[in-house]
Amino acid sequence: MQVLPNGVHWIPRYLDRQDQEQLVDVIRSVVGQAPLYQPIMPRSGKPMSVRMTNCGELGWVTDRERGYRYQTHHPVTGKPWPEMPDRLQEIWRELSSFEHPAEACLINFYQENSKMGLHQDRDEENLDAPVVSISLGDTCLFRVGGTRREERTTSFRLASGDAVILSGPGRLCFHGVDRIYPDTSPLLKNGGRINLTLRRVTTP
Ligand code: SIN
Ligand code: FE2
Repeated sequence: MQVLPNGVHWIPRYLDRQDQEQLVDVIRSVVGQAPLYQPIMPRSGKPMSVRMTNCGELGWVTDRERGYRYQTHHPVTGKPWPEMPDRLQEIWRELSSFEHPAEACLINFYQENSKMGLHQDRDEENLDAPVVSISLGDTCLFRVGGTRREERTTSFRLASGDAVILSGPGRLCFHGVDRIYPDTSPLLKNGGRINLTLRRVTTP
């Protein structure tokens, strides 16, 4: 495990190749029930370059009218999000050390040209629980800073199987994805990167 500035934890190769393949199968079954959709940013009204879906009791969504929030239903199908698979809850238990289960897993899918701007994760009512993030597929350039946008940032490459934990002083650190490196992993047949973020949303 590596500790980055502000207490952000990075675990390179947390999942081995077989674990990664099994997790991709789990995600495929979630996406089969809750298809990826293109979220819209509230202020600009622009579509994000990342497609998303969720599993668990709550899912993070955004649209032009109502902005960033958690809700119990898929915004396109109107169905409740698929249940959180046991494997994801197991990863949450191991990496968060939080005594209550995760309620949301956001599944982000990045194509070659997708990015995610620098932001804080602060739509959760409960900010005590860590945010646990898992990378699958192509490598990305990840950037993490401090709790103010102006603070200096550090960039590093997240590869398939890596985990990042935002906890304690690092829970509200600004972070983002500047680029994807195509063809850097054979895990996903058609390339691209999947990021899973596990979160506790409500106060237990
Ligand atoms: C996010 O912050 O929502 C995604 C981070 C990542 O893709 O690694
Ligand atoms: Fe985030």
